[in-house]
Amino acid sequence: MCGIIGYVGESAAQSRLVAGLQKLEYRGYDSAGIALVDDALSVYKQVGLVGDLDLPADSPQTCGIGHTRWSTHGRPTDANAHPHTDCSGRVAVVHNGIVGNYDDLRAELPDHEFQSETDTEVVAHLIEVELEFTDDLVAAVSAAVERIEGSYALGVVAAGHDGIVVARRNSPLVVGHGSDGNFVASDVTPLLEHTREVSYLEDGDIAHVTREGVEVRHDGASVERAVHRIAWDPDAAEKGGYDHYMLKEIHEQPQALRQAIAGRIDAVEERVELDLSLSAAFLDSLDEIQLVACGTSYHACLYGKQLLESLADVRVTVEFGSEYAVGSGRDPERTLVVGVSQSGETADTLRALRTAKRTGIRTLGVTNTVGSTVARECDDALYIQAGPEIGVAATKTFASQVVTLALLAIDVADSRGELDPADGRELLSNLQALPGAVQTALDRDEEVREVADAYAGGDAFFFIGRQFATPVALEGALKLKEISYDHAEGFPAGELKHGPLALITEGTPVLAILTDGARPEETHNNVKEVQSRGAPVVAVTSETGREGDYEVGFDVPDLGVLEPLVANVYLQLFAYYVADGKARPIDRPRNLAKSVTVE
Ligand code: AGP
Repeated sequence: MCGIIGYVGESAAQSRLVAGLQKLEYRGYDSAGIALVDDALSVYKQVGLVGDLDLPADSPQTCGIGHTRWSTHGRPTDANAHPHTDCSGRVAVVHNGIVGNYDDLRAELPDHEFQSETDTEVVAHLIEVELEFTDDLVAAVSAAVERIEGSYALGVVAAGHDGIVVARRNSPLVVGHGSDGNFVASDVTPLLEHTREVSYLEDGDIAHVTREGVEVRHDGASVERAVHRIAWDPDAAEKGGYDHYMLKEIHEQPQALRQAIAGRIDAVEERVELDLSLSAAFLDSLDEIQLVACGTSYHACLYGKQLLESLADVRVTVEFGSEYAVGSGRDPERTLVVGVSQSGETADTLRALRTAKRTGIRTLGVTNTVGSTVARECDDALYIQAGPEIGVAATKTFASQVVTLALLAIDVADSRGELDPADGRELLSNLQALPGAVQTALDRDEEVREVADAYAGGDAFFFIGRQFATPVALEGALKLKEISYDHAEGFPAGELKHGPLALITEGTPVLAILTDGARPEETHNNVKEVQSRGAPVVAVTSETGREGDYEVGFDVPDLGVLEPLVANVYLQLFAYYVADGKARPIDRPRNLAKSVTVE
């Protein structure tokens, strides 16, 4: 979950590396560093944010690599920060991934002196050994990576050697084709201000990036990687006047939702057009759809499961990517595995998709990131079209994932001949009304801040809902945990009395969702249960005339099973303002990273 950047060209590299790393800091922020190279190598690295790096005023070097770290092996220390160098101090390496056999490799280099506790440093020493036999840095890196067991996106420079050598296996790496030089990066975000022409490297690729061009090799042979034009504009990756990316992205939801349905609803035929290669015959033959994901995406799958089962009459299971196994008794021909991942790079979800593919199961990737590994490795890709999401806590992409799964549910139901026209019509019209309804919730932003300020001191927080609101209750709790560091839990409301009710006191605010699609009547009884233990209740409800039943009530317009998605906006804002009130680093919460690229 680290961020890598590299530049070689006509201009000074230092400022470009620093600016690029700041755009990548949502991938990890334990430490940062850069290496600048010409006939000599200069390395600057330390614990903390990129902006705190102690750098010379104006380094002339026009080639360099940089790194922002999310620690996996070795605590956040200056010595463990990347870039790592070899004994000669002439080779520098930045790495995103895990060198699983680093201990064994270190043991094979007894004469080498290691400065850090990291798995990565041994790679610099392996390259040092190879450079004793060849003066070709590409060949040296190729030989070194042969010895690595694990995952890597590597950037390598060496004094006296031209350009940057990069290599990838199970970790994302993009090349940016610029006008005054070329770039490498972990994703496109830092490249947008320089170029929109990018190439995605494949697993096993090794590329030599120079100011003149990019030479890619695969299994020793020269290969061409397609150049893609990125649609996102650079401003999309800016804060746009908000204090945090997270708040900006919460407020971008109406636009993101319009983009998710844009061009996919045929309002005349009341049908959905998703441009997938899943044939009606295949969809009709399906016994089961397995949804696999992690974190917020997993919550979106819990919502999607109910939409698919209620409309398409097909068995749907939801699995954590890290726990996934195909399961016995499945007919691979009649099973579809759908991997849902905002980043498209989450290692646990990728592992699940690869497991399914190996057993001959068809796979569909639902992702926000064009060109991501999930999109390229699945048989089909369905984009949620939410635009870049920089804040580590996923917000707009949750709603866009649910809406995209709703479109998929209508498409699958239609193909299976199971779609009840009235249900289809209602959901399609609610999908088109959803952006406006979300805007009504966003317009009550200030009121939510007051409620958050009032309850921020809670000992712990509980989120409850039923049916379509259960995933939203889980999501609300996850958001609060991630950014405020408070203890928060989400439950199906009916589960409280089977144990968690013991945790309820005057000091534990309960956020309850009582909308359509959430069996509000029954949830109301659970609200009474917690109120009778003194807990203050913040309710998001579509019921009329009950506002007085709760300490605080927010209402949502009539949108059927999509109402919990509007309720989710109140929970996102609540979490944001509780964390903001506690001055938390909201866009970069401790110990987390935006895309988790190791298992
Ligand atoms: C959510 O706020 C977190 N960032 C995290 O749980 C995230 O949803 C999870 O890591 C999955 O990421 P993905 O959607 O990019 O696969």
